[in-house]
Amino acid sequence: MNLKEIAWAFDKLSNIYDLVSYSMSFGVTIYWRKQLIRHSLNVYNIIKSQNTEKKVYILDLCSGTGDIAINLAKRIDKNDIILALDVSVGMLRKLIEKYKKLGYNNIIPIVADISKLPLKNDSISLATMSFGARSLYEGEKNFEVYLKEILRTCKYYVNLETSQPYNPVIKFLYYLYLYFIIIILGSLFFRHYNREYFKTIMKFPDAKTLKEILLSIGFKEVEYYKLMFGMACVHISKK
Ligand SMILES: C[S@@+](CC[C@H](N)C(=O)[O-])C[C@H]1O[C@@H](n2cnc3c(N)ncnc32)[C@H](O)[C@@H]1O
Repeated sequence: MNLKEIAWAFDKLSNIYDLVSYSMSFGVTIYWRKQLIRHSLNVYNIIKSQNTEKKVYILDLCSGTGDIAINLAKRIDKNDIILALDVSVGMLRKLIEKYKKLGYNNIIPIVADISKLPLKNDSISLATMSFGARSLYEGEKNFEVYLKEILRTCKYYVNLETSQPYNPVIKFLYYLYLYFIIIILGSLFFRHYNREYFKTIMKFPDAKTLKEILLSIGFKEVEYYKLMFGMACVHISKK
């Protein structure tokens, strides 16, 4: 899908995105996002303890309806800033509705494409991204364009994405679930949406391969934590 189609598809989805995302995964993605937040806060605390920067800028990529941005905003210093970036205005509108209700004013929504981040080199201390990477993945070469842009602007990058379990039995059951639940229910819920999107889960690299890709584009250190037998994974990359 090209960028316009992605923005259009997520605009259409934005009103039901949270409901569908939680219910189709039976709440498991809530737990996975909590792991991303936990690891991101560990990195944030390291950045704060180094005390090299007065204000910490966090960039939540593919921010969508803002679960990550809002949960981080609850826990960080109120002087620090979260930039919530997404290509879909509809998804960001939902984020704004949510955070205004909670009374936060340190989240700044930005409509932009990750391949052209409107940011200076090294201007961001920490980038986070949950379930965005596979929307960007159309083969390694194309994916690297996005990763290089993250590397150019950010010092740390914490990524949560679905992954590939190594155990063949678990992998089989996981794929069965994806085919029969996600693809079928997804097509029903997302009437305007292409079922190809769900197949991206199956095409996305496994944890070790993603680590190698991140190192090959220039991150100096990458560690990863598998979730639920490798069905998802959090990668922490340092420049
Ligand atoms: C599956 S949603 C994830 C939203 C949220 N992070 C979450 O955890 O639910 C993927 C998001 O990535 C955004 N997106 C896809 N491609 C993008 C791009 N090239 N630049 C910026 N945002 C993009 C979509 O608009 C969508 O909101």
